[in-house]
Amino acid sequence: MKTFYIETFGCQMNVHDSEKVIGTLISQGYLQVATPEEAELVFYNTCSIRDKAEQKVFSRLQQFKKEHGKGKTFAVLGCVAQQEGEKIFEKAPHVSLVCGSASYNRLPQMLVQLEAGNRRVTGLALDTEETFETPLTRRDNPHRAYITIIEGCDKSCAYCVVPFTRGPERSRTSASVLSEARQLAEMGYTEIQLLGQNVNSYRDPSSAGWDFATLLRNVGQVPGIRRVRFTTSHPRDFVKGIIEAIEDNPALCNHVHLPVQSGSSRVLASMQRLYTRDEYMRRIEWMKAARRPIAITTDIIVGFPGETEDDFEATLGLLEAVEYDSVFSFKYSRRPNTPALTLPGQVPEEEKGRRLTILQERQRAIQVRRNAAYVGAVEESLVEGFNKATGQWIGRTSQNKTLNFLRPGAAEDLLGRYVDVRVTRAGPNSLAGECVN
Ligand code: SAH
Ligand code: SF4
Ligand code: F3S
Repeated sequence: MKTFYIETFGCQMNVHDSEKVIGTLISQGYLQVATPEEAELVFYNTCSIRDKAEQKVFSRLQQFKKEHGKGKTFAVLGCVAQQEGEKIFEKAPHVSLVCGSASYNRLPQMLVQLEAGNRRVTGLALDTEETFETPLTRRDNPHRAYITIIEGCDKSCAYCVVPFTRGPERSRTSASVLSEARQLAEMGYTEIQLLGQNVNSYRDPSSAGWDFATLLRNVGQVPGIRRVRFTTSHPRDFVKGIIEAIEDNPALCNHVHLPVQSGSSRVLASMQRLYTRDEYMRRIEWMKAARRPIAITTDIIVGFPGETEDDFEATLGLLEAVEYDSVFSFKYSRRPNTPALTLPGQVPEEEKGRRLTILQERQRAIQVRRNAAYVGAVEESLVEGFNKATGQWIGRTSQNKTLNFLRPGAAEDLLGRYVDVRVTRAGPNSLAGECVN
């Protein structure tokens, strides 16, 4: 049997793409192995969002070839593959396949070409009309399943490579999303996470014509599905109907990830984010006024070209105004092909580092405060793991908080179950407590 190894970098979309690729490879008679050393075919599913991503991929490929490369076939998938294209064959001649995410539906044919000895196989078209779905998807997590609802991105944020690496938006039909959700429920999955670079611009291509809020309501009603999450939301397309859907449907989780990027309207305009700080805050107010306690998380970029000390202060002020439950924060990173690459006013690395540290310290204090408010509360938690070192179960609340807990006395396996946990302690990044049932 032919063996393959796959290593995945990047966002949940990439993780889920790898699940589909793995299923496809297995259906073609390949066997997955745990290390690149054991494999005949080595796949890297790459991310190019930040930080010299392409150089890192090349040095990884080079290093691996030196150490264990003999007789192996190398394939580069994902966003670096799409971005660098055939240049990869020049820089890393031991690579035989370069394929972006919009071409994975052609993988079986590409494997045949590889097996026939073709050393330069490519899948780089971005004009695919359909999304890549396969009933063969090999999901890793036995409880939570990802479902892609929309691929690509039609926005053009000035710093971002995604529109170049994943192409234009393509939505799946609501019927195919729902039928996948029903099948997953029958297989025993209880949590579904709907994926897309911008799920809010989901538009059912079938005659039903559903928008995202309608799709969300319907997925939330699939029997057996107890939790539905979705990521990522773009503020410009985030409508009140999404919050109303959450309010009405217990299966939709109390969590919205709404990336803001900056608290300064001036920087937002130069980022081409298509909303102002006030427009963003209006969406936050909808969530705060909701009948459900919705946790809010975000992404922030510090040191975007032209970001002044005042702009940065505005972002710090926004953290306090929103009181996020969690923030992913990044130093602006110059990316190939993007409009921001040539903007004046690039901020020195050291200054970006200083701003990032200040922002993360501020946010940490907010999380300490917010999490402390949960002490005494009882939270339903999906049990996702067990920590042998501490004897604690690892749970996740509807608000997407990690809740580590003890369950004295009982030795039974709780994995995948929903239990009620009383919160007794809180830290900046997690809660701890005791099971009450
Ligand atoms: N589609 C999602 C974001 C995908 S990328 C959205 O629009 O929210 C995830 C995060 O990476 C972004 O929200 C942004 O904060 C960050 N990011 C993207 N490009 C970046 C860059 N060039 N430098 C630093 N951070 C970046
Ligand atoms: Fe990138 Fe903006 Fe699209 Fe998100 S919405 S993927 S940040 S271009
Ligand atoms: Fe990275 Fe591509 Fe996702 S650049 S963040 S893997 S869309």
